Parts: sequence; C-alpha cells; structure tokens
Amino acid sequence: MSIAVVTGASSGIGRCLALRLAREGFEVYGFGRTFAPNDLTVPHFHAVVCDLRATADVLREVDRIRREGEVALLVLCGGTAYYGLHEELNAEKIEEMVSVNLTSPMILTQRLLRDLKKNQGTVVLMSSVTAKLPSPHGCAYAATKAGLSSFGASLFDEVRRYGVKVITVQPDMTATRLYRHADFTVDDDPQAYLVPEDVADAVLFALSGKERFVMREITLRPQLHRIRRKSRTAGKDEAQDAGEPVL
Ligand SMILES: NC(=O)c1ccc[n+]([C@@H]2O[C@H](COP(=O)([O-])OP(=O)(O)OC[C@H]3O[C@@H](n4cnc5c(N)ncnc54)[C@H](OP(=O)(O)O)[C@@H]3O)[C@@H](O)[C@H]2O)c1
Repeated sequence: MSIAVVTGASSGIGRCLALRLAREGFEVYGFGRTFAPNDLTVPHFHAVVCDLRATADVLREVDRIRREGEVALLVLCGGTAYYGLHEELNAEKIEEMVSVNLTSPMILTQRLLRDLKKNQGTVVLMSSVTAKLPSPHGCAYAATKAGLSSFGASLFDEVRRYGVKVITVQPDMTATRLYRHADFTVDDDPQAYLVPEDVADAVLFALSGKERFVMREITLRPQLHRIRRKSRTAGKDEAQDAGEPVL
C-alpha cells in the first residue's frame, strides 16, 4: 500500500490531485477543513479534517497516518491568499498566510522525512509563479511562495542522495476558490487561465518520471495573461491585460 498525504485536499488543485492519486492506486489521506459530502465516499480517499495552523492537531493526525503505513508521497497544496495593498492587509491575514502557506509545509515535511527517505519518496510543493516575480497587491502572499520555492530548492539538495525527489510546482492563474477574498478573478477567455486538471496532469507526469532524474521545478502559465476585475464598470466586468502576476 502506497500512502500519499495531500493538504488542501478539499478544494481546487489539491482536491483534483488527491482524487486522481486515489484513482492511480494511492491510499490518500487528504487534509482540509470542509469536504464535499461526495468526496467522503471516494474509494481510497480518507478525509482528515484539520486546520493546518493547529500544529499539534496536524502532527497528531500525521502520526496516526504513519501507523497505517509509511508515507511515500507528500503533496502540499494547502494555501490561502489575501490580496490588495500591503498597508491594507492586517496582522491576522499575514500570519494566516505565513502559517498555512509556509510554516505548515515545512513542519509536515520535517515530520515525514524519515518515511520519505526510507521509501525514496517524493515531496510536491505547490508554490506559484509569484515565487520568482514581483507581485504588487500580493506582497505577503508572494513572499510565502518565494519562501516555499526556496525551501524546496534547499531541501532537494539535502535529500537527493537518499533518493527523495522534491518537485516544486509554480502555477499561474488557476480557476479555483483562491480568489474569493480578491477584487479580481480569472478572465472569461479560457486561454487566460489554467484549471486544476492542468496542474494535476503536470504533477502526475512529473511523478511518472524515471528514477534517475527529477522534474525539480514546473512552471505552468496560461497562453494569455489577463485577469478580470470583479468591480463593475458601466455594468460590465473589466477584462484587462495583467501588468504583473498577482497569484
Ligand atoms: N489558484 C491559483 O491561481 C493558484 C496559483 C498558484 C498557486 N496556487 C496554490 O495552489 C494551492 C491550492 O490552491 P487552490 O487554488 O486550489 O485554492 P483553493 O481552492 O482555495 O484550495 C485551498 C485549499 O487549502 C485549504 N486550506 C486553506 N486554509 C487552510 C487551513 N487553515 N487549514 C486547512 N486547510 C486549509 C483549503 O481547505 P478548506 O477550504 O477546507 O479550509 C483548500 O483545500 C495553494 O497553495 C495556492 O497558493 C494557486
């Protein structure tokens, strides 16, 4: 039995990946806070209801999973985003983003690294294109993603000799619930955004690679670079070419 632990498994990219991995033969333990009832009956998928900021609860759940068997795959998709001018965020939102997007992946990886070394397993970090680019209106979010990508690069150098693979995925704008707190969302043109299946396809392709190499970083960008402002102008949503990435 190959065990996969997936965070962010209740929605968007993480949910898509968790369900695909369950179909591919993994026994998937998916972390999230609110699951759709239908997901709770998916074969080989086990919902773990847990707030990623509650470290003691997360570690208790991880240790419970480890008693079921050794974890071979850790997919860290849990994430949250608040956008806007940095002066308009508040301490609570900044702490939430750092905790969910950066602290929690590092803690989960630390707890599972011995298992991953024994199994020559894989860590998948769901970062963002903003990790490598300036992101006005997303300074704090982008900083958490830059931290996550940096963590992945260093971790790989630490664990590669043990056969552990570290794959950092850096998607651009993907149609999910991530933008519920933002004043923009994906454009209507389907060439201007990714869908969770695109990201899941890329991760599954990377996981199918040969033992001797690792797809260290994957960047996925839609063909067009556009966002849609949620505010209405003259009764119409305003589509525009995005100047800088905001994801
Ligand atoms: N969408 C994009 O354009 C995009 C682009 C680049 C990178 N990403 C990254 O991709 C990852 C997945 O995001 P998504 O786009 O799929 O967004 P999403 O649909 O909002 O999914 C976010 C997931 O994170 C979980 N989560 C958030 N806060 C949590 C907390 N405190 N405790 C436990 N779980 C928590 C959510 O679970 P609950 O809702 O059940 O709490 C949900 O499963 C994130 O790391 C995001 O930064 C997304």
